[in-house]
Amino acid sequence: MTETITVIIDGKEVTGEKGKTVLEIALDNGLYIPNICYHPSVSPAPGKKGIAKVFRGEIEIDGKAEEYDGCGLCIVKINGKLKKACITPAEDGMEIENDNLNVLNLK
Ligand code: FES
Repeated sequence: MTETITVIIDGKEVTGEKGKTVLEIALDNGLYIPNICYHPSVSPAPGKKGIAKVFRGEIEIDGKAEEYDGCGLCIVKINGKLKKACITPAEDGMEIENDNLNVLNLK
């Protein structure tokens, strides 16, 4: 049986499945949090390895094999701390701010 949790996003109480990320719960409830690299057609997502080389026209750029840190567009404030919504598991009672001028300026 699936456990349901309740979070508050921009003052609106919404519910979602335990185990989902903050971004998934927002999107499931029709609340838009900007995101790019989360989209399955635009890899790599945060935590995945980058590619070794990048080509721009005829220029070859050595990539870094370090982990990609993500686009950062999904940053939200959760209980006062900045976090990426796409990799943060939602927890019951979380207060999430997306539509906040400080958060929007960081995106
Ligand atoms: S969608 Fe890009 S870091 Fe979360």
